[in-house]
Amino acid sequence: MSASPAQSPLRTASWARIRELFALDPTTVHLNTGTVGAMPYEVLDTVDRVTRQWTGGLLDVYRPAMFTEYRDAIAKTFGVDGDEIVICHNATEGVARVIHGLDLREGDEVVTTTHECYSVLSNFNLLRNRFGVVLKTVTPPSGHEVRAEEIVELVEAAITPRTKVLSFAAITLFTGTMFPIRQLCELAHRHGLTTVIDGALIPGMLDCDLRATGADFITCSGSKFQCGPLGTGLIYVRNKVVPEHNPLPLPTFWPLISTWYPMMGSPPPRTSTAVESYNMGDFLQSAGSANLARGAALARAFELWDDIGRDRIEAYIMDLAEYARGRLIDAFGVEAMYSPGADPRLRSPLLAFNPFRRPEDAWNIKKFIGFVKRLETEHRIWTRWTEFDVPGSPHQHYAARITTHLFNTREEIDHTVRTMVRLAEEMS
Ligand SMILES: Cc1ncc(COP(=O)(O)O)c(C=O)c1O
Repeated sequence: MSASPAQSPLRTASWARIRELFALDPTTVHLNTGTVGAMPYEVLDTVDRVTRQWTGGLLDVYRPAMFTEYRDAIAKTFGVDGDEIVICHNATEGVARVIHGLDLREGDEVVTTTHECYSVLSNFNLLRNRFGVVLKTVTPPSGHEVRAEEIVELVEAAITPRTKVLSFAAITLFTGTMFPIRQLCELAHRHGLTTVIDGALIPGMLDCDLRATGADFITCSGSKFQCGPLGTGLIYVRNKVVPEHNPLPLPTFWPLISTWYPMMGSPPPRTSTAVESYNMGDFLQSAGSANLARGAALARAFELWDDIGRDRIEAYIMDLAEYARGRLIDAFGVEAMYSPGADPRLRSPLLAFNPFRRPEDAWNIKKFIGFVKRLETEHRIWTRWTEFDVPGSPHQHYAARITTHLFNTREEIDHTVRTMVRLAEEMS
C-alpha cells in the first residue's frame, strides 16, 4: 500500500532523485515519451512479481481481471467513477472498442481531423466502408502562431445537421498541438454530438478531471507519459449525466468484446441522472482472461505519480517544454516550428519542427529519417519524425519531434539542441 500523496517523501523529492526511479539507459537521452515512456523499476518489478504469483497457481483468474480496486483508484485520480474506467491493452484497442460501439448508421457524419493517429482514422474509415458512415476531416493549422479559436472555428464549419460524432486528439502526435478540449466539447454539446477523444498522451502528463472535459469517451495509453508497461491502456466512458459538465443524454453505446453484457435480454436503459443504471465499465472490463501483471503494474505507476503529485509533474514537464521551445526557436527560428507556442492553451510537451535551413526540406522524408536515425545511432539521442498535412500544401510535411518528461533535464535539452544544430548543418 503506498502512502497518501500528502505523506509520501516523493512529494518533495528532487527531480534528480525522481529520475533515479526510472530504468533509463545512462548512455542515452530519451526524448520520445510521446511514443513510449521508460518504466520505473518498481513498475518493472510489479510485472515480474505478479506474473510469478499467478503462474501455475490454482487461483481464479477471472475475478481479479475485473481490476475493480485499480479502476476505482485510477478513476479517483481522474475525477470520475470506477464504473466509467476500463483497463485495456493500449490506446488503439481502446479507441477501436469505442468507435465500433457507437450507434452509427449509413449517412451519419463523423467530423474529425487529418492529424488523428492512424488508429483513429482507420477505424472510422472501416465504418465508412462497412456501413456508409460519412467521414469529414479538417486539417488543423500548424505553426507557432496558431490560436485555439482557429481550431474551434474550423471544426464548427464542418458540422452539418447529419453530424453525429466529433472526434479529435487531446494532444496531437504529429505537431504536439494541445486541442482546446473543453471548448470543442461545448461546441459538441451545442450541436448534440457524441465526443470521442484520443487521449493517448493524457495520463502521466496532465493532472486533469476527465468529467470536466465534457467528453463522452476518452481513450488513453498506459505506456507513454504514464510509464506503465507496454500493452496497457484506459477507456473513460461517461456513464452518468452531470449537466454542468455534459448536459446531453448518454449516447447509445454497444460495449464490444464483453463477457458481462447480458447473454439474453437487454441491459436497463441508460441513466439520465448522476447515478448510473448499470456498470458500463464492468461490461467492457469483463473480456475473458486478462494480463493481471500488467494491470497491477499500471496501477503501481499511477500510485507513483499520485505520490509525486500530478500537479507537480505537469508543471515540470510543461516548464521543461517551454525551455526546449525557446532553445529550438533560438537555434532554428520561429518559422521552423510546427507546434503552436504563442497561444498558451495549445502548448504541449511535444515539439515538432524543421531543423533544416531550406523550407522545401520539410517534405523530404529521407532527410528526416536520416536525421532521426543519426541522432539515435551516432549520438544516442532518441527522438522521432512525424508526417502530417498542412493546409494549402500539396505535400505532406515532415518534422523532427522531441518530447519532454519528468525524467528529462535542461542539460539534456541543451546537449540535444547543440547536437541537432551541428547535424542539420552537416545534412543541409
Ligand atoms: C495521439 C496518439 N493516439 C494513439 C496512439 C496509439 O497508441 P497505442 O500505441 O497505445 O495504441 C498514439 C501513439 O503514439 C498517439 O500518440
